[in-house]
Amino acid sequence: MIVDKYRPKNLSDLVGQEAVIERLKIWARNWDDGIPQKPILLYGRPGCGKTSIAHALANDMNWEIFEINASDTRNKGAIESILANTATQSTLTGSLKLIVVDEVDGLAGQEDRGGVGAIVKVIQESRQPTILIANQVYIQKLKSLLPETEMIEMKGVEKRILRKYLKQIAEKEGIQISDPQIDEIADRSNGDVRSALIDLTATVTYRDREKDVYRAVAQVFKAQDYQAARSAFWDVDIDPDMQILWIEENIPNEYQNKEEMKQAYEYLSRADVFNGRITNRQSWNLLRYATELSTAGVASARKSSSSKFVKYKFPTYLQKMSYTIASRAILISACRKIGERMHLSSKEVLSQLRLIRPFILKNPEFYKLEESEIKSIQSYR
Ligand SMILES: Nc1ncnc2c1ncn2[C@@H]1O[C@H](COP(=O)(O)OP(=O)(O)OP(=O)(O)O)[C@@H](O)[C@H]1O
Ligand SMILES: [Mg+2]
Repeated sequence: MIVDKYRPKNLSDLVGQEAVIERLKIWARNWDDGIPQKPILLYGRPGCGKTSIAHALANDMNWEIFEINASDTRNKGAIESILANTATQSTLTGSLKLIVVDEVDGLAGQEDRGGVGAIVKVIQESRQPTILIANQVYIQKLKSLLPETEMIEMKGVEKRILRKYLKQIAEKEGIQISDPQIDEIADRSNGDVRSALIDLTATVTYRDREKDVYRAVAQVFKAQDYQAARSAFWDVDIDPDMQILWIEENIPNEYQNKEEMKQAYEYLSRADVFNGRITNRQSWNLLRYATELSTAGVASARKSSSSKFVKYKFPTYLQKMSYTIASRAILISACRKIGERMHLSSKEVLSQLRLIRPFILKNPEFYKLEESEIKSIQSYR
C-alpha cells in the first residue's frame, strides 16, 4: 500500500513538520550528551506523522526503539511490566533506547487505575528517552499524565506543502492527475497526509476499473451472440445500478434507428425494475434476470448490423460524483474480503453492513482489511 511504501524512514522524509523536528533533535541530542530530558507527549490529528516521526528519530539517532501500542488491550498486563523493566534499565553499553508508547489516549480504564497510572509511574522513573503519542490529550483520563511531559502538538500538514508532496508522489508513481484534482484531494484531507495518499491511489484504482467498464459496454453493444453480451460484465466490479447507467448513457450513441433504441430502453427499464426488487427485498436470485435484460436484451435490440466506431461515454450522472465512486470501489472490495470469510456474497455483506460492522471493526485483521477499507466501512451510512 502506498502509505507503507512512503512511510518516512528518516526525519528528512517528513514534510511540513520542521518545527517539531527541530525540537525533537535538540531533545535527542541532550539525551545523547547524557542530560536526561522530560518525556515528550506528541499529540495531534491523525495521519500527520506522529508515529512516523518517532521511528524516524530513533533511526536518525541510531537508537534502538521499543514500541508498544497502549490501546492494544490484549496485553495490558504485559504492557505495564515490560514498560517498567525496559524504561528503568540503565543501559550498560551506554546506547539509548527510545521508548514509544503509541495511542496513549486509547488506554482502557480511568485515571490512576489501570494503564495511565502505570505509565505515569514508569516515566517518572524512566532513564530512557520516551515519547508518548496521542490524538487527544485534554481528556480526563490523561490529566495526571500531562504535567509529567513536555507536550508538543503536531499540526496537520499545510495545504500548500501537501499539494507539492502529492504531486511528487503522483509523478514517482506515474499517476496522471490534474492540478485541480490534486487541490481537491489536499483540500479534503485537512492536513491528514495518510488520507490524502489513499485518495490519490483511489483515483487510479477507479480509473483502471473504468477501463474495464468501457470494454464491457463495447462488448454488450458489439456482441455477435448473446453469450458474449451476457458475459460482458462478469469480471467487472460495478454494481447492477451502475451497469444500467452506463448502458443507458450509451444507447443513443450506439443505436441510431428509433425502433432499436426504443427496444433497448425497454429491456433496460425492465432490468431496472428487477434491480429495484433486488435492493428492496434483497432477492439476489433476481440478479441473473436483471443482467440478462441489460446485456443480452439490449444487444438483441439491434436489427441492423453495426460496424461503425462508437466512442462510448461516461454516464453524465456519475461524472459529478466521481470521488464517491472511488470510495465506493474501496467499500465494495472490503465487502468482498469480508464475504470470503463469512461465506456471503459482497452484496449480502453490504446489505447487512450496519448490523455486522461492530464485529468486523473489532477484528479487521481477520478479514485482511486495509486501512482505506476500514475507513470506508466506518464511514458507511
Ligand atoms: N508529515 C508527513 N510527511 C510524509 N508522510 C506522512 C506525514 N504524515 C503522515 N504521512 C504518511 O501517512 C502515513 C501515516 O503516518 P503516521 O502513522 O505517522 O500518522 P500518525 O500521525 O501516527 O496517525 P495516527 O494518529 O492515525 O496514528 C505514513 O506512512 C506516511 O505515508
Ligand atoms: Mg500513529
